[in-house]
Amino acid sequence: MNNTLIPFIREFAKAPTVVASVIPSGKALALQMTSPIPSMGQPVVVELGSGTGAFSRTIQERLNGRGRHIALDINERFTALLTERFAGLDAVTADARDVSTILAERGLGQADAIVSGLPWTLFRDERQRELLDAVVDALSPQGAFTTFAYVHARRSIPARRLRRSLADRFEEVVLGRTVWANLPPALVYHCRRPQPRKRNHRTAGVPGHAVPADRFGAGDASAADQHRW
Ligand SMILES: C[S@@+](CC[C@H](N)C(=O)[O-])C[C@H]1O[C@@H](n2cnc3c(N)ncnc32)[C@H](O)[C@@H]1O
Repeated sequence: MNNTLIPFIREFAKAPTVVASVIPSGKALALQMTSPIPSMGQPVVVELGSGTGAFSRTIQERLNGRGRHIALDINERFTALLTERFAGLDAVTADARDVSTILAERGLGQADAIVSGLPWTLFRDERQRELLDAVVDALSPQGAFTTFAYVHARRSIPARRLRRSLADRFEEVVLGRTVWANLPPALVYHCRRPQPRKRNHRTAGVPGHAVPADRFGAGDASAADQHRW
C-alpha cells in the first residue's frame, strides 16, 4: 500500500474542510499538473497545498536536481512528511497567501511554475480571491500556473466562480483533457500570462526580486492536446 495514504486519510478525518479530499491525487493527474515545468535551466517551482506529495514526486522527477522546489502546506504534519521523503524539496508550513514572502525570504524572485493542490471549491469568495491574487503576484510574467477541479463538481457555483476568477487573472486559461484515471476524475486548468494587479503587490520593491532572464531555456508547456473552455 502507498505509505502516504494512511497519513492523508488521518489528516482528512481531522480536518475535512482543509484537506478536502479523502485520498491523494494519482500519477496521471500529477503528470498533467506538472507538464508546464520547464525542461531546461534552473526553474523555481512552487507547490501549493502539497499534502503528502502526490505532485511532489513528479515535480522532483521533472527537475532532476535542477532549480528550486518549494512546497507549501498549512498542515505541519504534511510538511514534516515531505521533508522526510524528499531531500531536494524545501517544505514550508505556511498559508498559500504568503507565497511571495516565502520566495523573498529565500532570495528568490517570482516562480516559473506554480502547481496548486488547493481545495478552491471549499474557499469562500473572498478567500479564493485572496489566494488567486497571491498566485498572480508570485508568478513571473512568463510563468505557468496549474490547478485542478473534480469533474463531478465542475458545474457547482464555487467551480464556476473559480473559472471566472482564473479568466480574470490570466490571459490564457486552457482546460486539459479529463484525467479519468484519477479518483475522482479531474480536470486541469493550465493558466499563463498572469495579469498584474495594480494594488497590493507584495513583491514590489523587494530588493533582488528581479527574475534572471536566462533561468531556463525553451519550456515544454505545450497545450497542443488541450481545448479552450
Ligand atoms: C486536496 S488536498 C491536495 C493534496 C495533494 N496536492 C494532492 O493532490 O493529493 C489539499 C491540501 O491543501 C492544503 N491546504 C488547504 N488550505 C491551504 C492553505 N490556505 N495554504 C496552504 N495549504 C493549504 C491542505 O492541508 C491539503 O494538504
